[in-house]
Amino acid sequence: MKKINIGLFGFGVVGEGIYKVLSEKSQLNTEIKKIVIKHPEKKRNAPAQLFTTDAKEILDDPEIDIVVELIDDAEAAFEIAKTAMNSGKSVVSANKKMIAEHASELIELQRKNKVSFLYEAAVCGSIPIIRNLEEYYDNDLLNYVKGIVNGSTNYILTKMKSENQSYDDALFSAQKNGFAESDPTLDVEGIDAANKLSIIILHAFGRLISHEEILRKGITSLKTEDFQYATEKGLVIKLIASCQLDDKNKLIPTVLPTFIEKSKTLALVNNEFNGVLIGSALADEQFLYGKGAGRFPTSSAVLSDISALRYSYKYELRKGIQNGFQSNYSSLQRIY
Ligand code: HSE
Repeated sequence: MKKINIGLFGFGVVGEGIYKVLSEKSQLNTEIKKIVIKHPEKKRNAPAQLFTTDAKEILDDPEIDIVVELIDDAEAAFEIAKTAMNSGKSVVSANKKMIAEHASELIELQRKNKVSFLYEAAVCGSIPIIRNLEEYYDNDLLNYVKGIVNGSTNYILTKMKSENQSYDDALFSAQKNGFAESDPTLDVEGIDAANKLSIIILHAFGRLISHEEILRKGITSLKTEDFQYATEKGLVIKLIASCQLDDKNKLIPTVLPTFIEKSKTLALVNNEFNGVLIGSALADEQFLYGKGAGRFPTSSAVLSDISALRYSYKYELRKGIQNGFQSNYSSLQRIY
């Protein structure tokens, strides 16, 4: 089996995780050849010769097969993904903001260049939600997808309830654990959840929606009275991202803090875990559950994409094509 060379962008929580897993544990026969970082002065747990600040050392290197893009900045990430695909490299990304904002261009780039663009880690961390939506439900009509898709806010709400922590302490702890975005406003205002919901909608219903179409409120809108009310009535508050079809086939996408009865499935999803209910015509309701944030859970999803490229699985955006969306999710090219 040919060794696959990887160029990594970003060495934050997930970047370092994927480096550790690939260099210490993986059986995939891959090597991280270069890592592009922004701040060379920082001390890092990897050999110094791996690091560079020059993106060309990856993008212009013909020996690099896959670019793994794990940086924060969505626009810079888009430029990297674009250049990489135009240079014939497949791309793995966890950047939900970039994907939500540039989905059609990215899918067109992979189609035009006959490369692959995979992003399982962008939605719900370790839960293989994109593959399930694309593959398993291909012949089943989905009615709704709803659940907890942001680990940080779920962690904050859990800590405020079960340990009586203040909002600020719980947020600080979510940041310290590497769950929160570097700008945590994205988490607490529901923007991260909305980006993930856009990607879910693309794969569940084959529709591309813009950010403005999602009715959104973050957990910052919650008041002391809301928590008091929940306690009195035996309810829990969760930030729920939801998309469902109404009887006229119109999609209703929302991200809203929601009261849920304690015994319901989503009420049992705590800390940084995510949980998603999928309602469909044939299978009825199903539940996907797992860690939605953090170094190794997210690395697991990135690794699953690298492995999919290694073994050339094929999956396509079939529902999207039926809806007139002229592109594949992924026509994976054999790269060994
Ligand atoms: N900030 C994100 C979250 C990270 O808390 O869910 C994983 O996408």
